[in-house]
Amino acid sequence: MPHPDRPLTIALSKGRILDDTLPLLKQAGLIPTEDLRKTRKLMVDTTGGVRFLLIRAADVSTYVEHGAADMGVVGRDLLLEHRPHVLEPLDLAIGRCRLCIAGPAELVAKGPPPAGSRIRIATKYDHLTEKYYLSRGVHADIIHLYGSMELAPLVGMADRIVDLVETGSTLRANNLVEEETLYDISSRLVINPASMATRKSLIQPVADALADAVQKTGRKS
Ligand code: PRP
Repeated sequence: MPHPDRPLTIALSKGRILDDTLPLLKQAGLIPTEDLRKTRKLMVDTTGGVRFLLIRAADVSTYVEHGAADMGVVGRDLLLEHRPHVLEPLDLAIGRCRLCIAGPAELVAKGPPPAGSRIRIATKYDHLTEKYYLSRGVHADIIHLYGSMELAPLVGMADRIVDLVETGSTLRANNLVEEETLYDISSRLVINPASMATRKSLIQPVADALADAVQKTGRKS
């Protein structure tokens, strides 16, 4: 449960999405008291009395789910993979990319693996990958990695990868091609359900201001 005396707290990812998140927060009146890209602090206040937590992308929904943060900004990929118990009221229309299956061109040219076959897939999206291949009757041996997935097929550790693709340049640089898009991804505002119930008067204006900021940027959600 959120502590009633604690300032409204928003969990943010320190990753590449921060550059897109900060202008939206600024438009919503949330201006940090120091440069979030430079500071080594993990907790930073804003001029408006809201507090930011700066954590790894994969941890944002955990902080929000446990009520350590009232709100957070997190990618749809992580919400689909980890299915945290949080409210997801707003598509922030930033961090747009796709969750794709990719592999070496010569393998992809042969078509997707047939039902009954067995393949090795490198990914950090174990659950989504397993679910997808189960629905196609393919046995997927998941090789869990934490990053640089594109390397796995190059060294013969996996046949394919399931990973995020934004510009496609990492795939191209490593002679891989997309086989299928599983999900369109963007960053979402998430809210702890107990916070929403007990601190709505603090949370709703911030959520509304962020929705306005998204609209003003003209990006379609
Ligand atoms: C992400 C993703 C791909 C790459 C895709 O990795 O995992 O590797 O970006 O972007 P592109 O299509 O524009 O090349 P990131 O750089 O975030 O690092 P990671 O491998 O540590 O996850």
